[in-house]
Amino acid sequence: MTSVREEPRNRDFLRFLGEFARSPMTTAAVAPSSAALAAAMVAPVPEKGDPVVVELGPGTGAFTKAVQAKLRGRGRHLAVELNPAWAELLRERFPRVEVVCADATDLRNVLTERGVSDVDVVVSGLPWVAFPTGAGRSLAAAVADSLTDTGAFTQFTYSWTRWAQPARVRLQALRATFEEVIVSTTVWRNLPPAAVYVARRARQHRRVVEHAA
Ligand SMILES: C[S@@+](CC[C@H](N)C(=O)[O-])C[C@H]1O[C@@H](n2cnc3c(N)ncnc32)[C@H](O)[C@@H]1O
Repeated sequence: MTSVREEPRNRDFLRFLGEFARSPMTTAAVAPSSAALAAAMVAPVPEKGDPVVVELGPGTGAFTKAVQAKLRGRGRHLAVELNPAWAELLRERFPRVEVVCADATDLRNVLTERGVSDVDVVVSGLPWVAFPTGAGRSLAAAVADSLTDTGAFTQFTYSWTRWAQPARVRLQALRATFEEVIVSTTVWRNLPPAAVYVARRARQHRRVVEHAA
């Protein structure tokens, strides 16, 4: 028997398979993330106030749904998705979310154009391991730059690729950019199992440096 809640998720599996076949390096997954992984990814979203949350690579909305559930109508939620079909799907599914169809590496411009300067949490579903090294570094810097002093950045990584060289280089870049990077225990209830990096406190805040100069 198929419940109403299960039906879209099954369709999302098919969507992922189709998009993975079409564009494996940008989709970089054969299934949407699970609710368990989503819960770990959105844990830093504050439960009070009006936080600004920016999501990168939202896909079909696994983390979007969890962010919206946590915000309960508060704050602001931007989602930056490269795939136009998925950006459209997200707009239909989450009318409260400001969906931007753009490349996340253009984050600085995306935020500037929308008058967003202080972000509380950046939640990234991006296939960061597939990013070229330079793009990965500048993305980490752009994220660090957008965050408030108490802000947090979450990024997941599949456990089976975690020890490969590209993933280690990305983690080094994250550690070079942020004072604190905490690695979660393995989230087994995900296909495939994954871990979450939670980064806080940018080592060098560009806006501070610019003001000091
Ligand atoms: C591994 S999927 C994750 C999707 C979703 N967050 C989840 O966990 O189910 C990666 C997503 O990032 C998007 N993506 C890849 N490169 C991107 C980029 N440069 N800018 C924005 N989105 C990108 C893909 O289109 C896809 O939706």
